[in-house]
Amino acid sequence: MPKMKKIGLLTSGGDSPGINPCIRAVVHEAVQQKVKVVAFKRGFAGLLDNDCFEMVLNDVSGIIQRGGTILLTSRCEEFKYEGAQKEAIGNLIKNECDGLIVIGGDGSFRGAYAIADRGVQVIGIPATIDNDIYGADMALGTDTAMNSIIEVIDKIKDTASSHERTFIIETMGRNSGYLALMSGIATGAEAVLIPEVRYDLEKIALRIKDRYKQGKISNIIIVAEGAATAYHVGRQLSKIAGIISKITVLGHIQRGGSPSAFDRVLGSRLGSAAVLQLLEDKTSCMIGIVKGEVKVSSFETVFNNKKELGPSLIKLAEVLGK
Ligand code: ADP
Ligand code: F6P
Repeated sequence: MPKMKKIGLLTSGGDSPGINPCIRAVVHEAVQQKVKVVAFKRGFAGLLDNDCFEMVLNDVSGIIQRGGTILLTSRCEEFKYEGAQKEAIGNLIKNECDGLIVIGGDGSFRGAYAIADRGVQVIGIPATIDNDIYGADMALGTDTAMNSIIEVIDKIKDTASSHERTFIIETMGRNSGYLALMSGIATGAEAVLIPEVRYDLEKIALRIKDRYKQGKISNIIIVAEGAATAYHVGRQLSKIAGIISKITVLGHIQRGGSPSAFDRVLGSRLGSAAVLQLLEDKTSCMIGIVKGEVKVSSFETVFNNKKELGPSLIKLAEVLGK
């Protein structure tokens, strides 16, 4: 096989902190390996529009501490169709890209898989605050998002205890309760509601009432958006037990911010490893760090396995919330 000379790079789907350090590492490793990097803007949309530029070291200077993605991202419905995928491959050929790195979440990997299936050498890097991707202990951005969440909850706890109030805090997590669960453990929340576990609002309401009677003056309930809305939980607690609560929906602050040290290192490792794996002829796969080591998993393995939260963490949150 002749050595790869040029690779494409794009960031797709929901952004997450740590993507910029990852882009930086891709460019640095590529320069080291004498491979050129062609960046496509706005994810698959840029690949379709051939909106691209060749990246040099100066393009990634001063970005390691920045959240978001300097390459921009988007959701591109059109890419789900064969015609668009063929057009995208045409643009990769036009730009003489021998391979492609896709930084994104599960949805983006479906797009990556579709073009790998048509013979393009593609590697995915997991980036999502939801941490719901099999084959990676931590996705890029999850650690920073958790730190943002606990910073806000700590502040809420100050005012909650002054006013003896119950707060219901909604985190992101469409299908995954990881952020809610870990933040619950890290802030000592009284209850955590996640999509993976059936919950009983009546039980929670009665427990809170009981704890008030025993002298507990404030409560924090964390709910992952995939489990319910905080407003719904608030209305139910009021209906069931007359508990008056304050609601905070954290929203997109969870997706922004300067990446934590953990996410900077993770992004740097994954970016470098992706270039090296492409040079090793790997394709149709994702790289992640599992138990401290770089692990390559085929997209099929990633799609066909569910990342579990682990019963011990769920139990721990319950025990600590009592
Ligand atoms: P994430 O990567 O954060 O999970 P999305 O699920 O929104 O984000 O997917 C990002 C993009 O990936 C979509 O807008 C689309 O361009 C592409 N994509 C998602 N699913 C598919 C699919 N089944 N086939 C081809 N491309 C897809
Ligand atoms: O997939 C990551 C995520 O942050 C989800 O937790 C959330 O539901 C979704 O993205 C929101 O995405 P957007 O606001 O970009 O549509």
